[in-house]
Amino acid sequence: MKKKIKLGVNIDHIATLRNARNENFPDITTVAEILHKIKVDSITVHLREDRRHIRDNDVEVLKKLNLLPLNLEMAATNEMKKICLKTSPFACCIVPERREELTTEGGLDVKNQMIYLSEYLPDLINSGVKVSLFVDPDLDQIQAAKDLGVYSVELHTGKYANLFKENKFNDELKKIEQAAFFCSKLGLKCHAGHGLNFENVKNISKIQQIVELNVGHFIISNSIYIGLEKTIKKFMEIINHPCH
Ligand code: PXP
Repeated sequence: MKKKIKLGVNIDHIATLRNARNENFPDITTVAEILHKIKVDSITVHLREDRRHIRDNDVEVLKKLNLLPLNLEMAATNEMKKICLKTSPFACCIVPERREELTTEGGLDVKNQMIYLSEYLPDLINSGVKVSLFVDPDLDQIQAAKDLGVYSVELHTGKYANLFKENKFNDELKKIEQAAFFCSKLGLKCHAGHGLNFENVKNISKIQQIVELNVGHFIISNSIYIGLEKTIKKFMEIINHPCH
């Protein structure tokens, strides 16, 4: 039997809403308390170079609060490395980042940045933070991640989520299945995320080797309709019973 899939909730867009008025409402501490109460597995924040949503202080507050394991998403820059080493989150997920993008548009090109990453990552890995690389479901990228000695990869499901809308997702889903299988063969933990919602997450949750999902925009947006608690409980129910 497959073990429970962990759910990490990305709260970037709570910060987006807060920043719209430059006040402390909605307050991320209150949100973290709700996530803790309903037993989410981790809390994810992406500290972007332009600080468009999560700010440095949010990372510190969440770490001090220490209610849930903190997963820090960040670009592989020296500034972010310093923040990560100072904060010491439970996990850190390295993502590619371009200022002009609306969200993280593709996976990290690990294969073509082996020299840079092999110098960049050891400080993080040796600090005890669980390091993950956000990659497309591509076997070469996964092999490169393995060669760098990281704990896990997070498979980018954004392309699958887009193709799901047009009911043309089968090839991309197969790639994700093969990628997840390859991770387990290599002994890498396999996570997945981006663009997931109540419907498209079912196929992803059926993949045996995927042990954690990170979901943000849909959960926060759907909370406007039915509330955060109800949305997350329904999400957790779906990912652990995707055949219902
Ligand atoms: N995982 C990673 C690595 C991401 O960069 C993001 C977006 O910040 C997510 C998961 C969550 O994506 P979404 O907000 O579309 O659920």
